[in-house]
Amino acid sequence: MKIAVLPGDGIGTEIVAEAVKVLRALDLRFEMETAPVGGAAYEAQGHPLPEATLQLARQADAILFGAVGDWKYDKLERQLRPEQAILGLRKHLGLFANFRPAICYEQLTHASSLKPELVAGLDILIIRELTGDIYFGQPRGRRQAPDGHFPGAEEAFDTMRYTRPEIERIAHVAFQAARKRSRRVTSVDKANVLETFQLWKDVVTEVGKRYPDVALDHIYVDNAAMQLVKAPKKFDVVVTGNMFGDILSDEAAMLTGSIGMLPSASLNAGNQGLYEPSHGSAPDIAGQGVANPLATILSAAMMLRYSLNQPEAADRIESAVQHVLAQGLRTADIWSQGTTKVGTRQMGDAVVAAITSTKKTI
Ligand code: IPM
Ligand code: MN
Repeated sequence: MKIAVLPGDGIGTEIVAEAVKVLRALDLRFEMETAPVGGAAYEAQGHPLPEATLQLARQADAILFGAVGDWKYDKLERQLRPEQAILGLRKHLGLFANFRPAICYEQLTHASSLKPELVAGLDILIIRELTGDIYFGQPRGRRQAPDGHFPGAEEAFDTMRYTRPEIERIAHVAFQAARKRSRRVTSVDKANVLETFQLWKDVVTEVGKRYPDVALDHIYVDNAAMQLVKAPKKFDVVVTGNMFGDILSDEAAMLTGSIGMLPSASLNAGNQGLYEPSHGSAPDIAGQGVANPLATILSAAMMLRYSLNQPEAADRIESAVQHVLAQGLRTADIWSQGTTKVGTRQMGDAVVAAITSTKKTI
């Protein structure tokens, strides 16, 4: 089992170190190799996704990714910005299916900005298409406007685009995921305005006919944004395009109290996957040893389940995380009165200790 470890920028290095520590505590045989990515790779090698890093990622069974980005790179030309590393990995490896669970942990119900009764027991799975849509559609650019109301003025444009096969394959992923849960899929679109999302809705409906045991409903994205804060527990599996999924998954993440708890998986057709926390590089707290490593540790659990075929090991990590939360250990982002504030490393150590103690009782 070969894992490419790409820590990246900001808190990325700190949180990935803890996830690696947890993986090593499992007594499984992993080959782990680390490479630079994002701003760190730009500094060292002049490119956010160096060829050697991409090669390592291609050859690995799974990629454990930290986070990329820092305000200091905002002025660089787009192709050299840290975000291009993650977009490039998604595109080059065909990682079209992005799983973003939003789970409200019992002990953290009060960390949510919503009333506890609205979020208690919340368990949503957002499935975001990750390699199409306006993120990658061509043409895109910036130019002097050739026509329109302001001829000659500067303009910028991007292309929103989906093909039928792209929509079909993500729809299948969503229906299959729903079969392992409560057999409900909500497809999010903007078919009332956009051709792209009329096709989306039509294709998801067609694919849905092949899953008669799964209930499908459709909702416009603006209403979805509203329902997510009004009655989030109405959702189970949510499937949507790249850009709507980007926005709604951040919104859903915050319902749970802390984005610092949420893992994600990005899979291709061969079940090779990239695993990363749902949060970013948080440059404001980087280097302070206070970041929450649990989202990355839980991403490592998803990696064991989806790409490395080690579901028991995944369960052990997830139980260990539950255990440290029950012990009252909290990093600053989820701390509240009456709980014990710990740093990044202490949190990782506590998860390792919980894993090691379950090993002894077996
Ligand atoms: C995410 C991030 C990325 C995205 C950025 C960093 C390119 O926001 O993974 O959600 O927009 O997809
Ligand atoms: Mn995002």
